[in-house]
Amino acid sequence: MRRSKVVAAAGHALACPAGQAKRWQAQTLPTLCLMRSTAAAVVLSVVLLAAASFAMPQAADPAKGKEVFQRRCGGCHSPDRSMEGPRLRGVYGRRSGSAPGFQYSEALKNAKITWNDGALDKWLSDTEALVPDNDMTFRVPNPDERRDIIAYLKTLSQ
Ligand code: HEC
Repeated sequence: MRRSKVVAAAGHALACPAGQAKRWQAQTLPTLCLMRSTAAAVVLSVVLLAAASFAMPQAADPAKGKEVFQRRCGGCHSPDRSMEGPRLRGVYGRRSGSAPGFQYSEALKNAKITWNDGALDKWLSDTEALVPDNDMTFRVPNPDERRDIIAYLKTLSQ
């Protein structure tokens, strides 16, 4: 009797940690698994976001365009005053060489371009390639800057 009690007690003592371990497993493993799948989901969405932002063109930013315009174009252009270059309010959608009173080159006067996204992008990439012998000797090699500047010019036509 005594002996079996001792064995039972020993058995209980041994069984208890095992039971605890089971309970620990039962409680912790799902949490761990959840944490693992959450981490996997986070990693996956970061990868997807990175891929998306790499693949998708960034949206045009007219506020940034205004800032670049003032810095890069402002020495020759202003929206409402012709300087070395013609005033540019309303240029988006306007016919090339048509700001009243500005002395354009014959080349630009005769170019008959309507200033839309495509034409402005070509003009700012390489004025000479679009209109040989024009008078604007300035380029914007960065496509993001061109896109933002064009978005800003568009706001001057609204
Ligand atoms: C060094 C002076 C100078 C700078 C800098 C300059 N431009 Fe010009 N721009 C001119 C001149 C001069 C003309 C007229 C060209 C002609 O008659 O052939 C012109 C013409 C233009 C036209 C055509 C306007 C029309 O009425 O047909 C646009 C659009 C234009 N510039 C945009 C820009 C933008 C945007 C920038 C800045 C990224 C810029 N320019 C920088 C001098 C400049």
